[in-house]
Amino acid sequence: MSEVDYAALIPNNVDLASDARLQRALEAWYPKYLEWWRSKGPVGFQDFEVYLRTAVGVDSEGWAKFGYVKMPEYRWGILLAPQEEGRTIAFGQHKGEPVWQDVPGEYRAMLRRLVVIQGDTEPASVEQQRFLGQTAPSLYDMRNLFQVNVEEGRHLWAMVYLLQKYFGRDGREEAEQLLQRTSGDQDKPRILGAFNEATPDWLSFFMFTTFTDRAGTMQLESLANSGWDPLARTTRFMLTEEGHHMFVGRTGVERVIQRTCEVMKEHGITDPTDKEAVRKYHAIDLATIQKKINFHYSVTLDLFGSEISTNAANSFNAGLKGRFREPLIKDDHQLEGDTYPVARVVDGKIQDVDTAAISAINARLCDDYIDDCEKVMLRWNRVMKAFDLDYSLKLPHRAFNRAVGEFADVFATDAGELIAESEWQDRNSEWLPSESDLEYILSLMQQETGIGKYAPWIAPPRAGINGQPGDFEYVKLAA
Ligand SMILES: [Fe+2]
Ligand SMILES: [Fe+2]
Repeated sequence: MSEVDYAALIPNNVDLASDARLQRALEAWYPKYLEWWRSKGPVGFQDFEVYLRTAVGVDSEGWAKFGYVKMPEYRWGILLAPQEEGRTIAFGQHKGEPVWQDVPGEYRAMLRRLVVIQGDTEPASVEQQRFLGQTAPSLYDMRNLFQVNVEEGRHLWAMVYLLQKYFGRDGREEAEQLLQRTSGDQDKPRILGAFNEATPDWLSFFMFTTFTDRAGTMQLESLANSGWDPLARTTRFMLTEEGHHMFVGRTGVERVIQRTCEVMKEHGITDPTDKEAVRKYHAIDLATIQKKINFHYSVTLDLFGSEISTNAANSFNAGLKGRFREPLIKDDHQLEGDTYPVARVVDGKIQDVDTAAISAINARLCDDYIDDCEKVMLRWNRVMKAFDLDYSLKLPHRAFNRAVGEFADVFATDAGELIAESEWQDRNSEWLPSESDLEYILSLMQQETGIGKYAPWIAPPRAGINGQPGDFEYVKLAA
């Protein structure tokens, strides 16, 4: 059962060959997927060999192999983490009952919605990033971009498998819709706001993979203990791949900061806010990096939905979607009578309000996310410290620049001070990148295709992918 069948058109460890109806449905979807990949996936580079990792198993060790592959020939497989014998539902009203292998009728609509929303984000990010290959700062980075892209494609496969296997005709229709909606499209946009924002440059890409892939990871974590076993096993395996996406983001920004610090040191620039001094040497000043953090982080917080949410309470109660690492939390996992502090606007002030914990599931997941982001900031700030620079990057307040949830209707500074709308209009460029900041970043986006070479605004990585040396040819551009 958990052997991966690689001889099949669609590599899988779900014994696809024994389910002719499902196999036909997926094989019929495959050409449509490829058509989507070619028309809305990476622009160009489709015929070049890229050094990519492909999932070939689900053991924690040796689950992936590396090799050159042309992207359209990537083996997008359906891989589920191994089934755990005797697993029981870990939370909600069915706690302690055996996990479901089939879709419980009463929760069918709720589950379908969860799968569709997750599924929609996967191709969306590929669409958002489609032009970036043309401005890659190195072959190493280009390869990382394409790695992230093909794996988001595989995550789409994972969700489409669930839809087609478990949701009959409406599942098949949803699978079609996942290829019909397009990031940023006026008429048929992707479902969630952050997935309709453009990713026009590489700093945006690194911020996206740091913050938005991390938010996606939190969602996967909360599904990884679902009482619906196929969803739990699917998302568990997706998490294995997601780690690399966040690595690409975190180290990407780290390398940008590294390069900026090098330039400052080299040229005796001591004022971290003097952006022109740094820009003279084609690096990105720290103040602009801070503004990019402010933007991507705040837009991503919106993905967690309303802090206080009946939907989230219902899917928790139903045992479908838990909290972050639910089994490790020390409480009764049913939350009857429990409270949780939620930051809210009360009488014009932001304060923690004790709220029924069951209603605050989203708030709690968001808090766990913020904690994780704080750790990233610590790592980034270490770079400046190593250069003896008296400057640190920080996350803006959760009330800053929000369009969803408790703070959607207020205006706040990066420090979380509530201000009038007029003041926000006057001052938001203090915290968010201006047109000219974005233009400057765009002006740096020149493709660097020399083997082992890097664009001037980013430092080389500390180590190669899969232990490869510095002069490794990650993408063979000569076809
Ligand atoms: Fe993904
Ligand atoms: Fe990802």
